[in-house]
Amino acid sequence: MKRRHTHIRDILPHVSPNIVYEVILTTKSRSGEVDAAPMGLRFLDNDLSSFLLRVYKETRTYSNLFERREGVVNITRDPTVFVKYLVKDKEKYLREEIENSEIVDVPRLKNAEAYIEFTIEKIVDEGRIGDFYCLAIKAYEGDRIIEPYSRASYALIELSINVSKMDPYLKQGLDISELLNSITYCVKVIKKTAETRLVEEYFKILLSSLSEHSSSILKKHLSQSGIHLK
Ligand SMILES: Cc1cc2nc3c(=O)[nH]c(=O)nc-3n(C[C@H](O)[C@H](O)[C@H](O)COP(=O)(O)O)c2cc1C
Repeated sequence: MKRRHTHIRDILPHVSPNIVYEVILTTKSRSGEVDAAPMGLRFLDNDLSSFLLRVYKETRTYSNLFERREGVVNITRDPTVFVKYLVKDKEKYLREEIENSEIVDVPRLKNAEAYIEFTIEKIVDEGRIGDFYCLAIKAYEGDRIIEPYSRASYALIELSINVSKMDPYLKQGLDISELLNSITYCVKVIKKTAETRLVEEYFKILLSSLSEHSSSILKKHLSQSGIHLK
C-alpha cells in the first residue's frame, strides 16, 4: 500500500542527510511479537522522506522488517534506552514502554522525542546485511526533553555500540582489540563524568546482552586496564 509522504523537515528541521543517526527501531513479527532495538539510520534526500537502514540478518529487527515491511523510528537522546533495548530479555521493558502508533500496525516507544512511521520500499541483499530502503509515512513530535550535553550520555551510547559488535566480530573471526580499547575508553569517560553506581548498573545490563565468551573476554580486558566493576 502506497501512503502519502510527510514533511519530516517540519519536525526535524536540523537533521542532515549526510549523517548517520542512532535511533530505536520498533518492529513486529508476522505473529505479532514486538521488538525494539538500537539501529543506525541515514536519510537519503534533503526533504528526509526516505531513509536507509542497514540491518544484520541475524537480528530480530531484520526478520520483522522482512516479514511486515513497516516499523517506527523512535528518536531519543536518552542513552539508557539504547542500553535497555540491546539486551536479550527486553520484553520486561517493552511491556511497560510501548503504545499504539498512529498509522502503522507496529507500536512506538512512550517518551521518545519524535517518531517516524514508515513502510519499506525496497530490500537489497548485501550478504550478512539487508539494506532496507524506507519511506516515511508520518512524522510527529513526542515529549521534548531538554538536557545539557553530557560526555557520559554520548560515551554510554558509544559503549553500547561497541559492546553490540563484540559477538558478531568474534563470530566472523575479526580482531576485537580496537573494540576492547574503545570500550575501555568509554567506561573511563563515564566513570569520570557520572556516578560509579550508574556505570556499574548499565555495564551489568550491557554484559547481559553478550555471550559468556565475549563477556569474560571483556571483563578480563577491563580488569587488565585497571577497571574493576562490581
Ligand atoms: C547505537 C547502536 C546502533 C546500532 N546500529 C545497528 C545497525 O545499524 N544495524 C544493525 O544490524 N545493528 C545495529 N546495532 C546492534 C543491534 O542493536 C543489536 O544487534 C540488537 O541486539 C538487535 O536486536 P534485535 O535482535 O532485537 O533486532 C546497533 C546497536 C547500538 C547500541
